[in-house]
Amino acid sequence: MDLKTYLSSRRTIPSAQLSGPGPDRQQCSELLTLASRSPDHGKLVPWRFIVIYVEGLQKLGEFCVEREKSRALDEGRVLSEAEINKTATVFSNAPLVVVLVSTAQGHQKIPLWEQELAVGAVGMNLLHASKALGFSAQWLTGWMAYDDKVIGLLGVSEPERIAGFFHIGTAQQAPVERARPDITAITTDWPA
Ligand SMILES: Cc1cc2nc3c(=O)[nH]c(=O)nc-3n(C[C@H](O)[C@H](O)[C@H](O)COP(=O)(O)O)c2cc1C
Repeated sequence: MDLKTYLSSRRTIPSAQLSGPGPDRQQCSELLTLASRSPDHGKLVPWRFIVIYVEGLQKLGEFCVEREKSRALDEGRVLSEAEINKTATVFSNAPLVVVLVSTAQGHQKIPLWEQELAVGAVGMNLLHASKALGFSAQWLTGWMAYDDKVIGLLGVSEPERIAGFFHIGTAQQAPVERARPDITAITTDWPA
């Protein structure tokens, strides 16, 4: 597929529709190498990856269910079956999850914002690289990306932040199109 055709038809496959096979270790390394070939002002490399395969995903899923129950208890909320089920299964579909961690921090020359933009570019590239290797992926955050206990479990510490959980595997169904931005509505000429 040529690049223009790919870009004009690219779609995320929801993680619930992903299963094996997923990238093996060598493919994962290639994937992360491709994704890291991203614009990076100052060449600071303000990101790192945490790679989680099936065994780790099962542990993470179980931890998140317990954590969600404890959060709900603290907030005096009753969790629905659907909520528990959603959390219990979120890490059980794709056989590989790559956690993209922002390591952006204050710098004398490169603003934090630009470092964070570079991390976002790596995220987009991870989706492209997954496709290039024959897989599909979804970029998710959810409450887990902001929960101090989950963050701690994964060994992420201040000023690091989780930019996303990238669920990577094989699509079980073809994607349907979704509405896209009206480019004229978000584009102006200058001077007008
Ligand atoms: C930083 C970031 C976090 C996201 N987190 C979630 C999420 O937690 N849950 C969700 O349903 N979609 C989330 N999305 C959206 C999906 O990744 C994706 O945009 C959507 O499924 C459609 O994408 P597509 O335009 O690539 O087809 C997130 C997107 C970004 C950029």
